[in-house]
Amino acid sequence: MADIRIKNQVRPSYYKNPDHPIGKRIEDLLSRMTLREKIGQMTQLDVTLINTTGEQKDIELDLKKARDLIRNHHIGSFLNGEAVPARTWHRFMTKLTRIAVEESRLGIPIIYGIDHIHGASYLEGATVFPHNINLGATFNPEHARNTGKVTALESAELGHHWIFAPVLDLGVNPLWPRFWETYGEDPHLASEMGAANVDGLQNCSETLPHRQAATAKHFIGYSDPRSGRDRTPVHLSMQQIHEFHRPSFQKAIDTGLKTIMTNAGEISGIPVVASYTLMTRLLREDMGFEGVLITDWDDIGKLEDFHHTAQNFKEATFAAVEAGIDVSMTPLHLDFNESLLELVEEGRITEERIDESVRRVLRIKFELGLFEHPYPPDTAPVNAGSPDNRKKALEAARDSMVLLKNHDDVLPAAKPKRIGLFGISANSKRNFCGGWTLTWQGAEESRFPEQMPTLFDALRSEFPGAEVTCFGCNDVPGLSGSQSEQKEFVAMLNDFDLLIYAGGEEPYCEFAGNINDLRLPESQAGELKLLSKAQPPLVFVLISGRPLIVTEQIKDSDAMLFAGLPGFEGAEAIAGIISGRFNPTGRLPFSYPVHPNHFLPYNHKKSSIYHFDIDNANQIIQKEDSYTPYPFGFGLSYTTFRYSRFRLGTKTLLQKGTLTAEITVTNTDSREGTETVLWFISAHKGRISRPVKELKHFEQVSLKPGKSAKMSFTITPDHLSYPDENGKPILEPGTFSLMAGGLKENFCYEG
Ligand code: BGC
Repeated sequence: MADIRIKNQVRPSYYKNPDHPIGKRIEDLLSRMTLREKIGQMTQLDVTLINTTGEQKDIELDLKKARDLIRNHHIGSFLNGEAVPARTWHRFMTKLTRIAVEESRLGIPIIYGIDHIHGASYLEGATVFPHNINLGATFNPEHARNTGKVTALESAELGHHWIFAPVLDLGVNPLWPRFWETYGEDPHLASEMGAANVDGLQNCSETLPHRQAATAKHFIGYSDPRSGRDRTPVHLSMQQIHEFHRPSFQKAIDTGLKTIMTNAGEISGIPVVASYTLMTRLLREDMGFEGVLITDWDDIGKLEDFHHTAQNFKEATFAAVEAGIDVSMTPLHLDFNESLLELVEEGRITEERIDESVRRVLRIKFELGLFEHPYPPDTAPVNAGSPDNRKKALEAARDSMVLLKNHDDVLPAAKPKRIGLFGISANSKRNFCGGWTLTWQGAEESRFPEQMPTLFDALRSEFPGAEVTCFGCNDVPGLSGSQSEQKEFVAMLNDFDLLIYAGGEEPYCEFAGNINDLRLPESQAGELKLLSKAQPPLVFVLISGRPLIVTEQIKDSDAMLFAGLPGFEGAEAIAGIISGRFNPTGRLPFSYPVHPNHFLPYNHKKSSIYHFDIDNANQIIQKEDSYTPYPFGFGLSYTTFRYSRFRLGTKTLLQKGTLTAEITVTNTDSREGTETVLWFISAHKGRISRPVKELKHFEQVSLKPGKSAKMSFTITPDHLSYPDENGKPILEPGTFSLMAGGLKENFCYEG
């Protein structure tokens, strides 16, 4: 190594001394950096440029390529890879770090970014949690915190510092192929879950002195494309952005979030990455974000060849840097560095502007302790998939199961002797995990850990006394079978005590998951129809990243469980719910659509659901349940809860005052259960049309049979205000309703 070490030509290294304040260390380092070195810190390149094969899966460093990019082009950050053993990552990160720290002029450490989205999911043997849509269904921020914490534990020992999670977009369009990456449709739920995840990731004391930076993404408004397709145009007003899309990011920022990733799409004609209004005025000036703003994959290139708003890459670079980005995930070439250098040399972008971004990047590197601890820990990695971590993933998966239908209490299944199991996910591992699992699009079956149970395995362990038969997809005649084949098949099914159909989707990610039709595929619908003709109870388990329309299939089934994408422990969670070992507590974090062309979030406007009564044209009917029988917050349990004694401390809330509401929840059944108490407020009138209701607070309570608990919520005027188009709060005197557990009380705000 000694022969290639560059002779240190710099002044004594003030910035390397941890006893000095970070602000001064940054200024000292910045004062020593050339323009090229600064621009290198603003660039993030893909691992394929520094590995031996140029393929994502290879985590074998090509020293020559890495040296060129770090020493000659001063690249400060790299990203991604795929799942390999911890030792392979450790070796790779050690070698890569050594080049930056020991061979580059200033020894600035690398910060490595990675899509460890639901656990350290690009690590062989990692703990893989449910995806966010499931975590949203738990209504328990502790599960989001645990996901962050375990991700930190399992990443830190590899030398990964920058985790591209959590997604804080809203799941408001079920066609959108990234729906499952969100915590659901509600801004308050997404805010609580997101902040807990950021806290778990960034503040995990067990990894010290190694630290992680979280990335809230994709700022902002990405998730509501009119076509439902990934990265296609979104139409949102600034008022809607402030009211619905800002809160989850704001809460994460207020929790100390270190980085944000941009939305690659456009809002109302302006690509977000080129919007000064969104990237600087909103994010920096209004929301107070001081961390690093990184583009998404090739967002700058997309201004040229996807949005066609920039003449060439250089103009695209100009637009994005002027709008406010700090780091370009370029990620496959050096065009960003060259273009930015020219722009500064031509005087179109000032060096002060470059310094602003470089300061932010260096700050993160200092705050994460990379200058003191740039290398992965020298102890062997031990955390991946530890029993304790997997237990946390199982608890999250268990609490995320949403029981939508349970006709005649067919579940829990009373000691079945023969179980028939069907569907594309009956004996699959990959379908439980979706994208961002081992690889970007979700790995092939053979790459999943041997000890991860499929539903077939899990049912056999759950019901040791039963015979479980798993039918392959070709064993079910379905729609294409002849009538006699179908009859014979149905007759054979009558020998079983329980039929379970595990259907849904196979893994996909981003645009690869674009669809034209939200309905359950016809072949699966046909199979379910056939199974429904047999006598034994039929349980439909939907393993899917989005709420496929299953209106008919719910009718065909006796019970239905929305299992989402529950991760490595998901099969055990499902089996445990079916047997009754677990009592379902999951609640829908979205409104389940029933009509192919009519999706609405629960917090829609009052006018979204009107229809005119044709015989009485003056009458406008606004029927709340017209768009979904399974509203946001819906989910059955094996026990029942009664709400009573709903009381408001006062009927009038005054300016600077508070109003405390109380309600009693009673477990009226014979087994212990957990209830999620959701408190909604509805403003009767508003200058800007108000949602029919808004979730303001949620809390869970576990109750033994016959036991009651008093739950309370204290309302302040802040709960009643909403932003105008500039983000300024509007607080109007008027009447409001407070709702919980189907009960409602009115109060007024006098101002
Ligand atoms: C995705 C991001 C991801 C990035 C890096 C992009 O295509 O939109 O969510 O973090 O790639 O892999």
